[in-house]
Amino acid sequence: MADLRTEIEQLKKERDAVILAHTYQPAEVQDCADFVGDSYGLSLEASRTAASLIIFCGVRFMAETAAILNTSRTVILPEPLAGCPMAEMITAQELGQLKNRYPDHAVMCYVNSTAEIKAMADVCCTSSNALSIAKKLPPERGIIFVPDRHLGSWIEEQTGRQMVLWDGFCPTHLRITPEMITTARSEHPAAEVLIHPEAPHECRVLADAVLSTGGMSTYVEKSDNDEFIIATEIGLVHTLKTNTPGKKYYPVSDEVTCPNMKRGSLVSVRNALAGTGGEKVVVDSEVAAKALRSLERMLALSEDGK
Ligand code: 13P
Ligand code: SF4
Repeated sequence: MADLRTEIEQLKKERDAVILAHTYQPAEVQDCADFVGDSYGLSLEASRTAASLIIFCGVRFMAETAAILNTSRTVILPEPLAGCPMAEMITAQELGQLKNRYPDHAVMCYVNSTAEIKAMADVCCTSSNALSIAKKLPPERGIIFVPDRHLGSWIEEQTGRQMVLWDGFCPTHLRITPEMITTARSEHPAAEVLIHPEAPHECRVLADAVLSTGGMSTYVEKSDNDEFIIATEIGLVHTLKTNTPGKKYYPVSDEVTCPNMKRGSLVSVRNALAGTGGEKVVVDSEVAAKALRSLERMLALSEDGK
């Protein structure tokens, strides 16, 4: 492993590359990255980087987003099979039908979507800025929200906006059950429960705070509390231990893992850097130009990702 890490460092310099990793990536991948963050932080980092090559350790929609935001850089997805099932749960044709049915509604899409869907939306969002963006959309208009019905219902509950939700979901966050939360609470009575908005309503109401992964990182750092039950993909526990050591983090269950995020490895990062593996992510230029508009609106409407 030490050899691989050395090789990665050398190749990174030779190729003028930056390694970006999502908080759900395996620990070894997070530890070799230049930046570890949530979807919003990674988008910002990708849009600003001076490096020529972006090695994107995450799932396809994230690498696509990086390629759309920074067309002058080459983006490599080390694990070409790492997709997000939720992003595939709505097609352009289905969103077209929804838009025809609700022509007066604004279209807001979760960043966990294909480039084609982003291209058809008025604005994009991540879980960290979804509430503030929904609040800023014209109040007289309803909102079509795709593809996550759970994030959508959370926005609806928190903002009171009139929303039309698509029936998409994250299979990983659907593994969280109310029983898991009550059991974890009884085992760790002093811990606060932090949950991701992709989790279902019946679980969210049992938590102390509903936060994106980036929001959880900030929360634990600032909190006076020392113990947390983490109800999201298990990889975040490693990020929290690294960023805010000295506190205790209990995954709500070891079963909450994303098989696509867990495809990542040091070997695939090395191969992507060496040019012997991974896939260069290319988005059709017309689609990319339209998708960029909804991503830029998101960046313009976000206040520090909140
Ligand atoms: P965030 O990184 O925005 O919290 O989203 C979690 C997620 O499921 C990404 O796929
Ligand atoms: Fe998609 Fe869920 Fe995996 Fe995130 S955790 S990449 S939403 S399947």
